[in-house]
Amino acid sequence: MFLSAVRNAVLGWIVYKLCKGIYNVTFHPLAKFPGPKVAGVTGWWKTYAEVVRGESMVHVLVKLHEKYGDIVRVGPNELHFANPDAYHNIYNGNLRWDKEAKLYESFGEDHSSFGLIKYADSKQRKEVLQPLFSKRAILDLQSLVREKVDHLVQALSKNQALGKSSDMLFAFRCFTVDMITEFCFAKSVDAMDAPDFAAPIVVAMDNSLPTFHLFHHLPWFRKTIFSLPPWLAIKASPETAGLTHLQVILAKQVEDVSTNPSILEASPHPTIYHQLLDPHVHNSSSIFSKLALLEEALTMLFAGGVTVGDTSMTGFFHILDQPKIYSALCEEISQAWPDINNPPSLEVLEALPLLTATIKESLRISPGACSPLLRIVPHLGAKIGGNFIPGGTIVGMSAFFVHQAPSIFENPEKFNPYRWIGEKSSGLEKWLVAFSKGPRSCLGMNLAWCELYILYATLLRKFDMRLDGTKEEDLEWRDCFTPFYPGRHLRVFCEKAVDKR
Ligand code: HEM
Repeated sequence: MFLSAVRNAVLGWIVYKLCKGIYNVTFHPLAKFPGPKVAGVTGWWKTYAEVVRGESMVHVLVKLHEKYGDIVRVGPNELHFANPDAYHNIYNGNLRWDKEAKLYESFGEDHSSFGLIKYADSKQRKEVLQPLFSKRAILDLQSLVREKVDHLVQALSKNQALGKSSDMLFAFRCFTVDMITEFCFAKSVDAMDAPDFAAPIVVAMDNSLPTFHLFHHLPWFRKTIFSLPPWLAIKASPETAGLTHLQVILAKQVEDVSTNPSILEASPHPTIYHQLLDPHVHNSSSIFSKLALLEEALTMLFAGGVTVGDTSMTGFFHILDQPKIYSALCEEISQAWPDINNPPSLEVLEALPLLTATIKESLRISPGACSPLLRIVPHLGAKIGGNFIPGGTIVGMSAFFVHQAPSIFENPEKFNPYRWIGEKSSGLEKWLVAFSKGPRSCLGMNLAWCELYILYATLLRKFDMRLDGTKEEDLEWRDCFTPFYPGRHLRVFCEKAVDKR
């Protein structure tokens, strides 16, 4: 009796799935859009590609657009676009579209500014945090960035004194993690002091990148791991033990500031906790639970830690790989910074044309947040890339397709900062979308720019740098929302230059 009930339930489920699959490819509103047939039938197509075959979705999408054109159906209810104009139709300051829940829930940060799905919730949170990340606030805190960059200079010099090149991917990520933990929580984790920059937190962050696909496609797996107590989570997943430890530290920090907000008075500068716990900056002090504070802290760490590090790593590889660009940059920086012991302000660096162009080119050529940032079309539908898209459709476009569009960037695969200088660069700014556009664009953009300016200028001024055998193929990456670099990391010798002038 029981067995026959189970058998009927399984059969019923199979028949339902078959009917749904047939409906998806015949009568579904997206049935007319081209794409792999199986992707139109079921979402398991993506799961198979990313989890079982270990494919990099952005690279898969490039091939699909070559075959099917500007719009590809990549799921029963999901479209991906390749025409650069479509980017501004989806990510646009005039729109109020929500994020797609399944993708954003994978991060386990549903209560943070990044993870909030609804436009209205995110707007309220961003208004609270914005003052901390405003251009004015960042200008005031540039000395903090300089302090952290000087710490990196010391750490790189230590490695050099031992005759060793440095792992620059981890060195940059250690710098950004120390920077963000100091900036957001007034408590640096001192990752830069770890031998060879293999700080447990940075190693754990790197190890956790490929697990993103499991968390995305198998929500039950994510929920199980997140529900385990820390000691068990460490046993179940030793590669991410550093992250679990960090969660414990951040949870303690949140507990401390929530129960005793007066400890914030000792902080040398404002932190995210000052903003979130100050009843004057939002309407109700009860809005921000301890969970929200913890998830916001984790968001800041990932959003600010990985992205700036990856952009710098990619930028420095290309600078050092092209000696003419390297020496022109050093010349420009040395002129603006004649006395090595007296660094110029951020405002002076921002006025340097080649340095600015090099940072823009690094942001363009680095994969950044490479995955399509999925949004839901509101119920009335919308025009995207010249086509009417029905309400409720999941839409996305990876920034990679804008940054690599030959119609906008000549020889897009080439690192060429000069494309951003002079008359030919007019109108190009619109197509630099590394921080995304619209209401859900990057909250930390001003901080990122400040870090990149001071980091690039200081390393180029204070070191003679030389690649230690790194080749372009070493920088191959896999789309794990942000890029995962499985190859040999960028390694650079950093010889201290007393004075380059
Ligand atoms: C080169 C460096 C950076 C790049 C390329 C970058 C890129 C992006 C992109 C593309 C988004 C949109 C994500 C989405 O729609 O899901 C985003 C969001 C965000 N970024 Fe950044 N980011 C950088 C640095 C930072 C820094 C330093 C912080 C500061 C902690 C930060 C904090 C955030 C936050 C909180 C969000 C969520 C905003 C929202 O969902 O409304 N980012 N970033």
